[in-house]
Amino acid sequence: MERAKIAVLASGNGSNLQAMIDAVDSGRINAEIAVVISDIGEANALRRARKAGIKAVFADPGEFRAADEFDGELMSRLERCRVKLVCLAGYMRILTPAFVRRYKGRIMNIHPALLPAFKGSKAIKDAFEYGVKVTGCTVHFVTEELDSGPVITQKTVTVCDDDTLETLTEKIHEAEHEIYPQAIEWFLEGRLKVDGRKVTRS
Ligand code: GRF
Repeated sequence: MERAKIAVLASGNGSNLQAMIDAVDSGRINAEIAVVISDIGEANALRRARKAGIKAVFADPGEFRAADEFDGELMSRLERCRVKLVCLAGYMRILTPAFVRRYKGRIMNIHPALLPAFKGSKAIKDAFEYGVKVTGCTVHFVTEELDSGPVITQKTVTVCDDDTLETLTEKIHEAEHEIYPQAIEWFLEGRLKVDGRKVTRS
C-alpha cells in the first residue's frame, strides 16, 4: 500500500521538520514527506529537506499579488502531491481561510507555549518575561483563528530560576521534537477524533 503523504510548510531553521524526517527514517512515522515548501528562499528547512532527498520548494510570496493567490499556488502544489496531512513547522505566514477550509482537520501546527496562553510569534519570550514557572508547547489543528484550533497534545516545561531565554528555548524545542512526531503518528494511525474543541485519542 502507498504510504500516506505529508507536506511540511516551514520558514526557518526546520528543527521540527528534522524531527519528522528522523521519525520517518526510524519507521516511527509510517509516511512519506512528499514536499517541504518555504516562503523564505534561504530557510534552513529547505536545506534539511534537500539533504534528506525530499522535494524542497521555495514559493516566493513576492511573485504573487495577494495572499489568496499565493495560497492558491500552495494548494495546487499540495494537490499534485496528494497529501493527507499538512504540517506547519515554524511557518510564519498566516494561511488564508480558503486554504484552511480546503484542508480542514488535516493541518497541524506546533506552538511554543501552552495554548491558549502566549499566542503569537514571540511566545517563548513572552512567557519568559511574564515570569511563568511552567510553560511548554502545543500541537493543535489549525483553524481560521490564529493559534486557536483544537489541542491535540501538549508538553510542559519547567522554568528554572537559572534559565535564560536561550536555555528555555532549547528546552521547549526539545519538547516540541517529542510531541510533534507523536501527534503525526496518532493522526496517521487514525486515532484522533475531533468533537468541537475536544480531541480524543483511541
Ligand atoms: C518552533 O518553536 C515552533 O513552535 C514555532 O516556530 C519554531 C520553529 O522552529 N511555531 P523550527 O524551524 O522547527 O526549528
